[in-house]
Amino acid sequence: STERTLVLLKPDAVQRSLRGEIIRRIEAKGYDIVALSQRTATKEELAAHYAEHEGKPFYDPLVTYMAGGPIVALVAEGENVIKGFRSLAGGTNPTEAAPGTIRGDLGREWDAPVIQNLVHGSDSVESADREIGIWFPNL
Ligand code: CMP
Repeated sequence: STERTLVLLKPDAVQRSLRGEIIRRIEAKGYDIVALSQRTATKEELAAHYAEHEGKPFYDPLVTYMAGGPIVALVAEGENVIKGFRSLAGGTNPTEAAPGTIRGDLGREWDAPVIQNLVHGSDSVESADREIGIWFPNL
């Protein structure tokens, strides 16, 4: 069925001027972008977004990374887009992510305390609803 998913272009994607390349792949796949905004995430937004990771060893570095520069938040819509965007994004670790994916083609590991992997995509309908509410409360 038609779904919406929350995508974040993380600070490394914006810093490396990969916005266009990543958005091109989303559009070329046939998904529609129904909302889009660039801003610097607040600690409150990030605490809400990453609540499930609180207490993990990479939580503080993750929040510091995500607050370290502007991000682009967008909502993509389409048939099975939640699974489809995660397929486009590739695996969490960009060294291991398959070629052809956003992370596999554009990412690699850097000497950083957290894995920097260019994009986030919601992992379920429940997560998408919750995350869209955090980043686009008026949608
Ligand atoms: P993502 O899967 O979008 O959301 C959680 C993020 O935490 C993940 O991307 C990485 O940026 C980071 N992350 C997840 N697991 C690890 C890990 N084992 N070590 C370092 N960073 C991680």
